[in-house]
Amino acid sequence: MGLSGDTLRGKTLFEKVRNDFLGLDTTYENARGELTRRIYMDSTASSLMFRPSAEIVTSFMSHYANTHSKLHHSAFISTAAYDWAHSRILAFVGAPEEIYTCFFAGAGTTAGVNRMARVFRDLRPEKDTAVISIMEHHSNDLPHRKHMQSVIHIPVQGIDDNLMCIDLAKLEDALKAGKGKINYVSITAVSNVTGIINPIHDIARMAHKYGALIMVDGAQSVAHLPTQIFHADDPDATIDALVFSGHKTYTPGSPGVVIARKDHLLGIEPEEVGGGMVERVMEDKYLVKEEFPDREEAGTPNIPGAIALATTIEVLDRIGMDLLMEIEDEIMHFALSEFARLEQVIVYGGTDFENCPRAASISFNIRGLDHGLVAAVLNDYFNIAVRNQCFCAHPYVKEMMSDELKKDFGEIDFGNMSDEFMRKAGMVRASFGMYSTMDDAKVLIAALKDIIENGEAYGKLYEINDQNDYEHIHYKPDHDAIFNIKDALDEYLD
Ligand SMILES: Cc1ncc(COP(=O)(O)O)c(C=O)c1O
Repeated sequence: MGLSGDTLRGKTLFEKVRNDFLGLDTTYENARGELTRRIYMDSTASSLMFRPSAEIVTSFMSHYANTHSKLHHSAFISTAAYDWAHSRILAFVGAPEEIYTCFFAGAGTTAGVNRMARVFRDLRPEKDTAVISIMEHHSNDLPHRKHMQSVIHIPVQGIDDNLMCIDLAKLEDALKAGKGKINYVSITAVSNVTGIINPIHDIARMAHKYGALIMVDGAQSVAHLPTQIFHADDPDATIDALVFSGHKTYTPGSPGVVIARKDHLLGIEPEEVGGGMVERVMEDKYLVKEEFPDREEAGTPNIPGAIALATTIEVLDRIGMDLLMEIEDEIMHFALSEFARLEQVIVYGGTDFENCPRAASISFNIRGLDHGLVAAVLNDYFNIAVRNQCFCAHPYVKEMMSDELKKDFGEIDFGNMSDEFMRKAGMVRASFGMYSTMDDAKVLIAALKDIIENGEAYGKLYEINDQNDYEHIHYKPDHDAIFNIKDALDEYLD
């Protein structure tokens, strides 16, 4: 069967833009004194900037003005572009404008989760409990602990077979037992540690069946998977609120995004108040605007960031998220199957795509080597940028590592952790984005083979610094000489 016209157009566009990211050709000198291209595998923390969005925003800046006015030319252009950004994002996540609004909040997902936790709390104060999983990033955990009376953490299943997906039977038990008290379920669409994809629509059906709302943390899904939050033919599968980060969606510098049902938001006064969200202000009262998103966006928003993000999203949509997912899947499949051949490597979470679909992230350890050493060698000798430690997901990492750690440390007290313990309690995470290639994955695998073979020798080249990090004894790159703002500015002003 041939490819459809849309798929062909998507592929052509993907090939055209896949290398169009700022930082893809960045080079650093490695510990062997060779100048090599950095391979960026830290996209889960923050992705690289899509160059067309940076350029379009630069050209937009010639017309920049504050929004909420259409009087002068620039105010008109700015307001129209900013309005477009909201609509563009709503369409991208399958959220009809009659039902949902999109508003920008703070720097990332964290701001959005905090905001929606307060909205749901105030909307239904009689329901004082939130349900989350132990898989969550701290940003989809602590806001619920702070804003709600109580939080139930659903465990993951398959501790024995290392599956590490959310235990849906236990989720249903908790919803049944807490019926009437559970306000909402807040769940990540994709884990930032294992990359495991959660069945968010099954979870939505379950939550709604027991009278709970559902918020989805889309920080790790929106740039990697197709998103369709509204389902007219299956209303229970519909998501009440989706939150994600622009800086993880190929647009650093852009804001956090909240997409939420207007009917929920209309039930209470907006959580944030100030300029822009009011109709009239008298000394003794004020009248909040009815219109969305204005009533949810107090103060001057990050207009350039929002426009840059919507520009990126326009391109992702033109390529097609199904296609992008397919391309990334190939790299994930390849990397996971190669990891499986390395006996010394432990990959956390199920590696069988059928039982345990994944996106973007693979967290692992090399037996006998500390995560910090492996991450440092990958950086210093192979110019591969990965992240290590616990990725702001301590309960999940602890769950996955507790057997290993118990062998060395006995009973684990996470409240009282020695430096030695911290050097063991963590993982290395390699993560991918649309600019990642099969060749990048091959370089990673080759590097890991070398580290497995020469781990002891590498270890001798490092010492532990006062941050409890591995630091090379001889290789001391001068980061200030590589880049500092004042020099960059002087060069520009010269
Ligand atoms: C799953 C998940 N949720 C929330 C966050 C927090 O995002 P931000 O730092 O953009 O607020 C992250 C960041 O890594 C994440 O991976």
